[in-house]
Amino acid sequence: MTNILLTGARGQLGTRIDALATSAGHTVTAVGSRELDITDSRAVDDFVSPDSVLINCAAYTAVDAAETDQEAARAVNEIGPLNLARACARAGSRLIHVSTDYVFPGDASTPYDVDAPTGPATVYGRTKLDGEIAVRESGADVAVVRTAWVYSGVGTDFVATMRRLEAEREFVNVVDDQIGSPTYSVDLAGGIVELALRDFTGASTFHLTNGGQASWYELARAVFEEIGADPARVRPCSSADFVRPAPRPAYSVLSERAWVTAGMTPLRPWREALHAALA
Ligand SMILES: NC(=O)c1ccc[n+]([C@@H]2O[C@H](COP(=O)([O-])OP(=O)(O)OC[C@H]3O[C@@H](n4cnc5c(N)ncnc54)[C@H](OP(=O)(O)O)[C@@H]3O)[C@@H](O)[C@H]2O)c1
Repeated sequence: MTNILLTGARGQLGTRIDALATSAGHTVTAVGSRELDITDSRAVDDFVSPDSVLINCAAYTAVDAAETDQEAARAVNEIGPLNLARACARAGSRLIHVSTDYVFPGDASTPYDVDAPTGPATVYGRTKLDGEIAVRESGADVAVVRTAWVYSGVGTDFVATMRRLEAEREFVNVVDDQIGSPTYSVDLAGGIVELALRDFTGASTFHLTNGGQASWYELARAVFEEIGADPARVRPCSSADFVRPAPRPAYSVLSERAWVTAGMTPLRPWREALHAALA
C-alpha cells in the first residue's frame, strides 16, 4: 500500500481523493489549510515524510477575486507548490500537482495537448502556470495534472447551482459560447489515485478530464434532463451577458493523449459521469 500525503484535503477534489484512497487501503495523511499552510516552508518540510506520494490539491481557486488579490493567489499557487516540491526532492518523495486549463489562452478550436503553448488570460491562470514551472524546475519527481470544469453536484459548483435554479426559476440563461470538458470530481480522484500508484520519475505533464466536450448551456440542459426537468427551460446566452472580472476561456478542451499514451485509464464520457453523479 502507498503512503499518500494530501494537501488541500478539505476542498472539492481533496475530499474525494481522501475518501477514495482511504477506502482502497492506502495510508493517507490528509491536511487542510488549518493543519498545514503550504506557504509556510518550515511547516511543509516537517510535513513531508520520505517514500511518499504527495498529492497537492491546495490552491487559491477564486478566479475573479485573484484579479485584485494577486499576492495571495501567487503565494498559494506558486510559492506553496514550490515549497512542497522542494520538500519532496529532499525527502525522496514524489509529487502530483493539480493544475488547470486556465494556463492556456482559451482561443483554440481543437483539444490542447500537454505541450501546446500556454498563455494565461487571468491572474489565477498565470499564478497556476508559475506554480507548474516552479515544481518542474525543483528537481523533484513530479507529475503535473491539469484538469477543467470540475463538479461534484453539491455545494455551489455549476451542477449543484443548476439543480438549485431549476427549483427556483422558470427559465435559466446559460452561456453557450464557452466550451470545455465537464469533469466529475470522483472520476478525477480515481485517475489521480491511479497515477499515485505509478512509479513516475522526472517531470511529466498530463491532462485529465471526463471525455468529450460541451458548452455550459449543454451541460445545464443535461442536468435538467437528468433530474427530470424540461431542458427547454434552459436558454442560451452569450458571455457578453455575464461579464466578470476574470475573462473565461472560450475553448479549453484538454487532450487526453499523454495520459492514454502513458498507459493510464481514460475517464468515461462526461455525459455518463453526470448521470452517475446525479443518480
Ligand atoms: N474546480 C475546478 O473547476 C477546477 C478546474 C481546473 C483545475 N482545478 C484545480 O484543481 C485543484 C483542486 O481544486 P478544488 O476545486 O478542489 O478547489 P477548492 O475546493 O477551492 O479547494 C482548494 C483547497 O485549497 C486549500 N488551501 C487554500 N489555501 C491554502 C494554503 N495556503 N495552504 C493549504 N491549503 C490551502 C483550501 O483549504 P481549506 O478548505 O482547508 O481552507 C481548499 O480546501 C486546484 O489545483 C485547482 O486549481 C479546479
